[in-house]
Amino acid sequence: MQFGHFDDTHREYVITQPDTPLPWINYLGSQDYFGIISNTAGGYSFFRDARLRRLTRYRYNNAPLDSNGRYVYLRDDDSRQFWSPTWQPTRRDLQDYTCRHGLGYTVIASTYQGIRAAIRYFVPLNETLEIWQLTLTNQRADAAHLSVFSAVEFCLWDAQDDATNFQRNFNTAQVEVSDGVIYHKTEYRERRNHFAYFAGSETLAGFDTQREAFLGEYRGWDNPAVVERGESTNSIAQGWQPIGSHHVPVTLQPNETRQIVFLLGYHENPPDQKFDPPNSQTINKRTVAPVIARYRDPANVAAAFDALRAHWDDLLERFQVKTPDVHTNRMVNLWNAYQCMATFNLSRSASLYESGIGRGIGFRDSNQDLLGAVHMAPARARARILDIAATQLESGGAYHQYQPLTKRGNNDIGSNFNDDPLWLILAVAAYIKETGDWTILEERVPYDNQPGTEQPLFEHLQRCIRYTLDRLGPHGLPLIGRADWNDCLNLNCFSDTPGESFQTTTNKDGKIAESVLIAGLFVVAAEELAALMERHVDDAGASVVYPDAAQKIRTTGLQHGWGGRWLRRADDAAGRKIGSHECDEGKIFIESQGWCVMAGIGLADGHAEKALASVKEQLATPHGIVLQQPAFSRYYLNLGEISSYPPGYKENASVFCHSNPWIMIAEAVVGHGDQAHDYYTRINPSAREAISDVHRCEPYVYAQMIAGRDAPTHGEAKNSWLTGTAAWNYVAITQWILGVRPTFDGLMIDPCIPRAWDGFKATRGFRGAMYHITVENPEHICRGIRSVQVDGKSIAHNVIPIFGEGTHQVHLVMGERST
Ligand code: BGC
Ligand code: NOJ
Repeated sequence: MQFGHFDDTHREYVITQPDTPLPWINYLGSQDYFGIISNTAGGYSFFRDARLRRLTRYRYNNAPLDSNGRYVYLRDDDSRQFWSPTWQPTRRDLQDYTCRHGLGYTVIASTYQGIRAAIRYFVPLNETLEIWQLTLTNQRADAAHLSVFSAVEFCLWDAQDDATNFQRNFNTAQVEVSDGVIYHKTEYRERRNHFAYFAGSETLAGFDTQREAFLGEYRGWDNPAVVERGESTNSIAQGWQPIGSHHVPVTLQPNETRQIVFLLGYHENPPDQKFDPPNSQTINKRTVAPVIARYRDPANVAAAFDALRAHWDDLLERFQVKTPDVHTNRMVNLWNAYQCMATFNLSRSASLYESGIGRGIGFRDSNQDLLGAVHMAPARARARILDIAATQLESGGAYHQYQPLTKRGNNDIGSNFNDDPLWLILAVAAYIKETGDWTILEERVPYDNQPGTEQPLFEHLQRCIRYTLDRLGPHGLPLIGRADWNDCLNLNCFSDTPGESFQTTTNKDGKIAESVLIAGLFVVAAEELAALMERHVDDAGASVVYPDAAQKIRTTGLQHGWGGRWLRRADDAAGRKIGSHECDEGKIFIESQGWCVMAGIGLADGHAEKALASVKEQLATPHGIVLQQPAFSRYYLNLGEISSYPPGYKENASVFCHSNPWIMIAEAVVGHGDQAHDYYTRINPSAREAISDVHRCEPYVYAQMIAGRDAPTHGEAKNSWLTGTAAWNYVAITQWILGVRPTFDGLMIDPCIPRAWDGFKATRGFRGAMYHITVENPEHICRGIRSVQVDGKSIAHNVIPIFGEGTHQVHLVMGERST
């Protein structure tokens, strides 16, 4: 069952029913000002940091699930009926409801009693404001006398404090209203120099800024007293809950169309120019006035929207494919790339499942997110790498998270996730392969943001490697620390206290529990660093250190990690094997199979193929590959959070989608194109669209998890949008299955595709040039290259040179190499 459809031509997903199984959201904004918006206009906005600079209030986990948003009410002043054209919050029986989620914008449209309304929400590029563009058309035979009411509820900036500290917050709210603009200025009189504003293009009949005055006592957003009455109260908030609402009366003749614009924005004044006049307590509005004036003009709004579209077209043009599979095309050309930008922008901070309060920018998360976005945002990727590296510690370890606003490591979560540093190497390598910008290695970056500790990024990378080598366990494999990529495998935690954080509790000295995943990741990272050094550093000694270290861990990984038919996952704090056939539960885990094959462990002697066969046999389901089996049926003190989840959910044996592409890549590494693409398709959201009633999350983006076979809701997705699944699936399909892979020395084309495919076409922008790639598969094989031509000339290998400019034709024929 579906609740909408893809409009590939317009690059939109069109939702045709407002009561989707869950709110289906989109993101507005791409740099500083962001918002989430659901298919019924729920959601909120923030400036840079969803916790510390929240503009509008949102009540997560409310009933209905998605209340509070960017609401517009329409009232028929003759019949006194009112409704919301976005369905929520009034939930009337609308005709022709559609929500079009596009790239950085959402349009929600409907008809009710002969009044057609469409609202386009978007954030103009390089602005810290959002636009609501409301278009009204009277389809009735008679003139319509309408009232339009806008409504947002302001947040008192720090979303955590806003949701908890009521004894203070019910006293602090302040607003100003001037020239039809509502200014929210709580705490502006003291230490803040920022405020929010809510403006409109029309002359107002009235306004409200106090929630209770607008809604009326004991009423909700579905039934505001002001809208029912058709008249604002011109309330000025004093403490309690500040809101913004405008009242715009509109008369529409039959067939007449009118456009009304609302602007919601964030603005900062220089600290010494906060007030006007200077010694007053009144906001200096001169600095924001030109911005408001600009977007009160519909021509500028239209131009800003066109610029936004052009921006996305430009980003997406850098990689487009045409394969025989519509789901591959759709995800690669549009939605997966788009989701990669969202995860790059927001890490795990703000979605419908991430409250914007708990988690800032994750060290491992953002390094991985970058892998899917670097070709679209190379300059921002560079800046991000330097920000991340500045939260590294002198030991080589890293803060697990930092706040985007302050860019400082988050002490509450701290450090000691022993995989963290290694991801930085992968991110830097991906950045240099994409851009050829070796200068990043020389950038001087501090440790823990402490001035005076700056060293070249290159030194940071070396410390990442040393951090692992300084922390090897009894068998010579990396110690796991608090956890590795699997945050819930807490082998040193041993928590029996309710509510204690699994992430930060450590009751063992950490000198025994080892991770086979980190072993594989280490090998990949050490080889990347070796390749960097080979090209960049004139140091013969160093260029053997890293390959040697990689080889040693590779050998140990196989010797100690091999469990008979697959790779084990870890050793616990008592040295017992985890992920072994000897275990009662959790006999086989996905992560070590993927990473060890990527590391080349067991490739030469068939162990890799054996491990992948075990994955297929024991972990693969029609809804994707589950994280481990059998699921843990009880809580294990020595394993921690993983066993806290009921079987089939989250890390306890759900299809934890982030780890699936590692197996796709591994299958591609061993040449199994059919299997790789089959796994790709199982979790591809577009390919799951037809079962939207089972999947329940948005069919246009990946979710973190799909309930596993042990769960009663097998196939149901959760935690959509902000997940490493986005970047890794993008890497798996583009670089390993289609095989279009940036390297330090050129653009490698190494397809490993389903044998049924006749081939595919791709265009790839790379280092200033555009590559038009045609792959033919006449013998219907998965992998193998017979010939490669570049601009009509044969070349003897499959790494296409760096041209730096122009358009180049690459023609690759698969088959046995004839030479
Ligand atoms: C989740 C993990 C997540 C971790 C982050 C856990 O509760 O299950 O997926 O990585 O929290 O703190
Ligand atoms: C989600 C977290 O964001 C990520 O850091 C972690 O690796 C996975 N969960 C697996 O636990």
